[in-house]
Amino acid sequence: SVDTRHVFLCRKRRYSTIMAEEAKKLAAYAAVDNHIQNNQVVGVGSGSTIVYAVDRLAERVRQEKLNIVCVPTSFQARQLILQHGLSLSDLDRHPELDVAIDGADEVDSALTLIKGGGGCLTQEKIVAGCAKHFIVIADYRKDSKSLGQQWKKGVPVEVIPMAYVPVSRAIARRFGGEAVLRMAVSKAGPVVTDNSNFILDWKFEHAQNWKEVNTAIKMIPGVVETGLFVGMAEKVYFGMEDGSVKVR
Ligand code: 5RP
Repeated sequence: SVDTRHVFLCRKRRYSTIMAEEAKKLAAYAAVDNHIQNNQVVGVGSGSTIVYAVDRLAERVRQEKLNIVCVPTSFQARQLILQHGLSLSDLDRHPELDVAIDGADEVDSALTLIKGGGGCLTQEKIVAGCAKHFIVIADYRKDSKSLGQQWKKGVPVEVIPMAYVPVSRAIARRFGGEAVLRMAVSKAGPVVTDNSNFILDWKFEHAQNWKEVNTAIKMIPGVVETGLFVGMAEKVYFGMEDGSVKVR
């Protein structure tokens, strides 16, 4: 019956959510265990997967008495660092990081990333760019051959508020698709980033040369940063459905 089917679908969805959470944790723990050593400056990313990495980092700092300094990529990351009693710093004091760990919305076969589902792409890219090693953690749903196959929300682009209409039109004219202003869940207004800017989600129509597209979008007046991370990720840890961790 329809009712039985509904219950089945709900259970299935709940099951896959639990699986995804477990997969995030697996990836996060493996990355922290393999890449964090004593006396490091660590960039802390944003999102839900990074929460597990900070849990593990705090556990190791406590147990192994590690001397670790953390640089956040967002207000959320800053709060996580403080809540876990970790040492908080910034790029003024630590402009060179040993490693940065962060999540991703989608990862293609060349390790090009879409980031910014949580709107923190600009600070995430700055911190990743200051790190000797940029390590990505994700669950199996983010693993993709080609961008756009898994993540359907498009490429986030942070823009100066007054420029969101001309930037949106310029992106659509030049590259096709549609660049839509991201609204708050309440629909009461646009999402405002940690840098007091807006986000456009560019729903592209087909795979492109992401390096060229990233550079071209950045040249549009009013664009602050894109969520395309090209040639930045050194390794990606995927937590898999079968409980293993795939490293690429
Ligand atoms: C935030 C980000 C996140 O890292 C990305 O959205 C992945 O988040 P999650 O770990 O919750 O899937 O880029 O701006």
